[in-house]
Amino acid sequence: MKMSIGFFVRKMLGSFERPVSELYRSIFIDLNALVSQINYWVTASNILELGCGEGAVTERLAKVYPNAKLTGIDITSRVGRMFQGDLSRVKFKQQPIKDMVRENPQSFDLLIISDVMHHVPWELHKELLTDAKQSLKSGGYLVLKDWERNQTPIHLLCYLLDRYITGDKVRYKTADEFRELIGDVFGANVIKSEKRIRPWSNNIAFLIQV
Ligand SMILES: C[S@@+](CC[C@H](N)C(=O)[O-])C[C@H]1O[C@@H](n2cnc3c(N)ncnc32)[C@H](O)[C@@H]1O
Repeated sequence: MKMSIGFFVRKMLGSFERPVSELYRSIFIDLNALVSQINYWVTASNILELGCGEGAVTERLAKVYPNAKLTGIDITSRVGRMFQGDLSRVKFKQQPIKDMVRENPQSFDLLIISDVMHHVPWELHKELLTDAKQSLKSGGYLVLKDWERNQTPIHLLCYLLDRYITGDKVRYKTADEFRELIGDVFGANVIKSEKRIRPWSNNIAFLIQV
């Protein structure tokens, strides 16, 4: 992990790191609501989470999909570090999506990308999603969740914290910009549903079928 403000704050928190990071995240997104929505949308037995970070979404996925195999990948060395749960059917790997799909093409029936795209430079968005698409079986689903840019105080707060706590040059899309990107990569009529996730309408999730 790079030496961001977040890195030092987390080190100082010690055993409070997990509850504090859960609380921090809950200001912006109800992850339980997100995962319930995913589970309502898709039945799956082999799930990939791209950009799973330390495992907050993966942990919840493992609970709502009790019989599924789950794989979480991320470019960070801290991949899966905070996950608590059954590791017999959940594995984490520090690996770029390109390598994952080379080893496991068309293997998964559900792919989740949650709050990753705004950390990825826009010029790499198409390539990342094109690679990610290769991980899915024909007829499989991608749930793409991100934070929509708008002119509200909560968006400004989200931007400032993301920018200065993670140290990433975060850049958010609007829902229309996401729809255009999805159309470019996956084609027309692939968005089967869209849902705003509480507590902020900035949280938008797209259900995409390949
Ligand atoms: C805000 S965290 C989200 C973590 C998790 N998906 C969640 O919702 O709790 C963003 C994550 O995206 C990861 N990330 C950024 N660029 C990536 C890439 N090109 N491939 C995989 N992961 C990436 C970061 O390392 C980070 O862990």
